[in-house]
Amino acid sequence: MSRMLMDNGLALSPQMGWNSWNHFQCNINETLIKQTADAMVSSDLAAKGYKYINIDDCWGELNRDSKGNLVAKASTFPSGIKALADYVHSKGLKLGIYSDAGTLTCSQTMPGSLGHEEQDAKTFASWGIDYLKYDNCGNTGTSPRERYPKMSKALLNSGRSIFFSLCEWGVEDPATWAGAIGNSWRTTGDIEDKWSSMTTIADLNDQWASYARPGSWNDPDMLEVGNGGMTKEEYRSHFSIWALAKAPLLIGCDLRSMDKGTFELLSNKEVISVNQDKLGIQGKKVKKEGDLEVWAGPLSKKRVAVILWNRGSVPANITARWADLGLDSSVTVNARDLWEHLTHPSIKTQLSALVEPHACKMYTLTRSKA
Ligand code: GAL
Repeated sequence: MSRMLMDNGLALSPQMGWNSWNHFQCNINETLIKQTADAMVSSDLAAKGYKYINIDDCWGELNRDSKGNLVAKASTFPSGIKALADYVHSKGLKLGIYSDAGTLTCSQTMPGSLGHEEQDAKTFASWGIDYLKYDNCGNTGTSPRERYPKMSKALLNSGRSIFFSLCEWGVEDPATWAGAIGNSWRTTGDIEDKWSSMTTIADLNDQWASYARPGSWNDPDMLEVGNGGMTKEEYRSHFSIWALAKAPLLIGCDLRSMDKGTFELLSNKEVISVNQDKLGIQGKKVKKEGDLEVWAGPLSKKRVAVILWNRGSVPANITARWADLGLDSSVTVNARDLWEHLTHPSIKTQLSALVEPHACKMYTLTRSKA
């Protein structure tokens, strides 16, 4: 299947960064954004690949200025967005912003860009914005397929390379059309910081796996890791599945007060490298026996990424047979455990492990001999 991609050269691997919404909702201001950029660098997460600092809803005044331009909210962003972009860029990071393909954003506290696409894209470019998340509230009942391409075109004409993240909540099967106009598209409604939401969203997103490719990705929504509503093993599963599914890795917790366990999950280079692998094929659920699942996908250099995921409430053995993984039965592999940081050499025919409830094991399999 050939398909045109949005021609901005971005998103060769899924985007990595942070977004304000999951933890802060509308309680945001320029100090928070600057401190988050500082924390991204000082925590070393920037060096692991997280580069976008994305402001979500509620950054603007309800009314445009006399020329119809969007205006940063004076009480919370008094220095303006350009100054913030300069600050974030000085840290070696990129700044993202949020608007909406309707009359008002979802918070209803600021205008959307419907009918102002060219003007707003130029404003964002003039501020030095690198990324736009584009929501779907106040949409007057017309199809996203009418409204989103206008902003895509406006961004391409803005004079700046701006990542385009569509957020129409999966309502019109965006996987089937959004790759031509954007770099990622939400496939679901909003994630909540709980196991049932995270697992439901993982499954909904999975059905669109074949549409992901370098330049354009399925987006099952931002990470909840570190926000407190799930256990460490549940967050490990969340992060592992998002990484394997080539989902955007957009951190949604307060980076300024992140604990050691949260950092340990978010900073795992081996898991991140599965997400960022240059082959860019979305891993998916390949086997399900009740609550016991195997998720897998190909990586570059003929490697295979595998997750053994126990979604049930008792410890269980989970087995991935080579046939489940698309491997020839004669193949011998080294299995690198990406969370234990150990290699199990010379494994034949199947990979098995005891997996705790709501936990997962994640591996990269490398063929030992041709
Ligand atoms: C929702 C969107 C969320 C967040 C929120 C802001 O529509 O899915 O991710 O952006 O609006 O109001």
